[in-house]
Amino acid sequence: MAYVDKRPLEARVVRVAFAASFLFLGLGGVGGLIQALHRTGYFRFITEVTDGNYYTVLTSHGVFMVLFFTIFFLVGTFTWALTRSLDRDLNNPRVTKYWITSMSVGAFLTSAAVIGGFFNAVPLEANVLYTMYAPLKAHPLYYIGLTLFVTGTWVAGYDWISTYLRWRSDNPDRRIPLMAFMVLTTALMWYITTIGIAAEVLLFLIPWSLGLVNEVNPTLTRTLFWYFGHAVVYFWLIPAYLLWYAVLPKLSGGRLFSDPLARVVFVLFLVLSVPVGIHHQYLDPGIPEGFKFVAMTNTMFLLLPSLLTAFTVVASIEHGGRQRGGKGYLGWLRTLPWGNPAFSGMALAGLMFAAGGFSGMINAGMNINYLVHNTFWVPGHFHLTVGTASALTFMAGAYWLVPQLTGKRLVAKRIAAVQPFIWFVGMTFMSNAMHRAGLFGMPRRTAEPMYESFSYDPALGTVGGVNGQVALGGVLLTVSLAAFLYVMVRTWFGGDRVDSPVDSELPPALSGPEHSPRVLDNLKLWVGIAVLLVVLAYAVPIGSIAADGIYSGSETAPVSVLVDAAKVAVGGVAEGAAEVLT
Ligand code: CU
Repeated sequence: MAYVDKRPLEARVVRVAFAASFLFLGLGGVGGLIQALHRTGYFRFITEVTDGNYYTVLTSHGVFMVLFFTIFFLVGTFTWALTRSLDRDLNNPRVTKYWITSMSVGAFLTSAAVIGGFFNAVPLEANVLYTMYAPLKAHPLYYIGLTLFVTGTWVAGYDWISTYLRWRSDNPDRRIPLMAFMVLTTALMWYITTIGIAAEVLLFLIPWSLGLVNEVNPTLTRTLFWYFGHAVVYFWLIPAYLLWYAVLPKLSGGRLFSDPLARVVFVLFLVLSVPVGIHHQYLDPGIPEGFKFVAMTNTMFLLLPSLLTAFTVVASIEHGGRQRGGKGYLGWLRTLPWGNPAFSGMALAGLMFAAGGFSGMINAGMNINYLVHNTFWVPGHFHLTVGTASALTFMAGAYWLVPQLTGKRLVAKRIAAVQPFIWFVGMTFMSNAMHRAGLFGMPRRTAEPMYESFSYDPALGTVGGVNGQVALGGVLLTVSLAAFLYVMVRTWFGGDRVDSPVDSELPPALSGPEHSPRVLDNLKLWVGIAVLLVVLAYAVPIGSIAADGIYSGSETAPVSVLVDAAKVAVGGVAEGAAEVLT
């Protein structure tokens, strides 16, 4: 029975989440195309796309893609995964309706603030990029929308966790099903990391944008943002991981290689995602070098779950290829279902994630980071990770999930079959050229990056040069994205309903949960360790930054009392941490 018939309410919520996700994917894609052509000088859409409103475009691309496209997809996928793996409905439909509404309204308000930047007649503006920290300031609506959006995700987390707890009281001895385990660990990680952005937005950015305080401490808002800003990447990646672990083995004709390894990976993400954020601030003054080194060390440990994933997922796909009759060291690759876009999209996304992992290791090294920091290298890197590992996996997942959610068969299958390959080729051109341009010294985040310092790329403006490849790649990506949306719209609104649009059975792992140590399911223990690591990594740096003045320059009497209280509290935590360490 299709999911839509078994759980109509949940299917409707997932459909709303996916519709919002794909809407923002389309809007964000427009921003991406404008940038790719404008920066490279190939086509200036409207002469007005310069300076100020270039940043409106850049903000829309970032916010729509990495906050709304990804997170709406996540809440949809998680709702599907949790209810399916626990085989029960969500506890309380009113809670469910609340969070999807809050997220939608929030995303609408924030988008209005961003898009308002184009129209001089509207007093809205939010050219602050997705990395929203002082001294850039947006219209209050931008922050208020984001607050509704993020609090919506908190309620969604509550919805999933409370549903799990009911299941647990009915099934006291059973192991947590793997997909539910992924949902729970990720939701818990999200609570820990969104403390940073909530503090930044509620205590500083909203009062500041409303004019209630005159100044804020920029280093503090940056640090709070990056406290959130690394772990959020796992919020983008984990729906992809979930699909790679749960669905990709089945699509390749095999079974997941190891349930215990998968559990270890998600525990490591919960424990290590947050105490690494300072690796985005290697070049920031005001943060002691030692804490940058701690962040680097934790980051290198965080490579482990991704390497484990590469091993487990490839082993599962190989098992599938051999089940289909593949032989030899690499012969099994040929027997895989490359014509099925759900499979090929996820497999190509995983391949590109490997390349993204390598450039990520370079970003993570304190000394090499100085070379690439704030250059075009960095967007080159994250277009491999969030821009492909996540985005292409989500699109591939949609080819498999949307039929189950609508009860309809996928249409325009030939277009769907080539779409992932166009994305892969387009991204190979664009991302490779971005990395190279970064090494030439081309800055990121600028409308007119034509400094003389890198004009020694002799082929700059030609198709073989970095600009030509960025523009070509950007166009191919836009074509691919349009093809995806076309297939989705036609499937969703056209076609007849059928009883079982796809084979949605998920086979058990080769090495199942019975081989997983029980301690892996002890979520309280892992949350405790995660919080401890966060305190060790952040208490002293945040304390020393806050000591310069929480609202620097504008401390009124009650604020300075607060500052003193915070200094005492932070000092106490630091002393406690020192005691634990020695
Ligand atoms: Cu990071």
